[in-house]
Amino acid sequence: MPENCAQLTRPLVVPSVLPVDLARIGAEVAALEAAGVDRIQWDVMDGVFVPNLTFGPDVIAAARSYCGIGFEAHLMVVEPDELLWRYVEAGCELLIVHAEACRHLHRTLARIRELGARSGVALNPATPVSAVEHVLEQADLVLAMTVDPGFGGQEYLPAMEPKVAELRELIDRRGLRVELEVDGGINAETGAAAVAAGADVLVSGSWLYGHPGGAATAVRELAILATGVPR
Ligand code: DX5
Repeated sequence: MPENCAQLTRPLVVPSVLPVDLARIGAEVAALEAAGVDRIQWDVMDGVFVPNLTFGPDVIAAARSYCGIGFEAHLMVVEPDELLWRYVEAGCELLIVHAEACRHLHRTLARIRELGARSGVALNPATPVSAVEHVLEQADLVLAMTVDPGFGGQEYLPAMEPKVAELRELIDRRGLRVELEVDGGINAETGAAAVAAGADVLVSGSWLYGHPGGAATAVRELAILATGVPR
């Protein structure tokens, strides 16, 4: 790892809540916290930016008091500017908007920070790194999607690894403290490949929830296999 590399020594493990039983959302997030996850990702979908519709800020607010770990909102929506304050008020500490959905991305990221949250920007598979190179100083996190967003359970796209590596090089060359997150088809094997490419935050939904050993085992396996360093 180059000396100026800001990549975390072990990846953060962030479950997507897409597979949870929403009727038991409080118990579900409490169980994820007990399993040792680092944060929880809420996949917010508006049925327009992506062909799926999930939940709004009220569901997140209902879960907030059941656990003490951070919430991040992955806003897969066409008009994120109008919604930002709602997700901060609901208890999210990190808001991730899509570069493809923002007419004024620089302003949107600044607005997220003005609201007191950390700012994140996501890139769909077809979107190049150049879409964020002029706003990287306004971002606390960049999310390189490793599937086309909208659904869990999709196949990881290894073709995204060069993009992850390019983002890692850009972040380190500028000496920035920007988390590099990947999301989509992440399991122990693809997570290790993404970390090798430069990722330091792994979002997993179906594999983590479906792990035969349970979420805690999945979390440990992801962190260890991704870096070989026991948690
Ligand atoms: C976008 C969603 C999914 C989800 C992860 O489609 O954001 O990527 O978080 O789902 P899995 O881990 O099942 O691919």
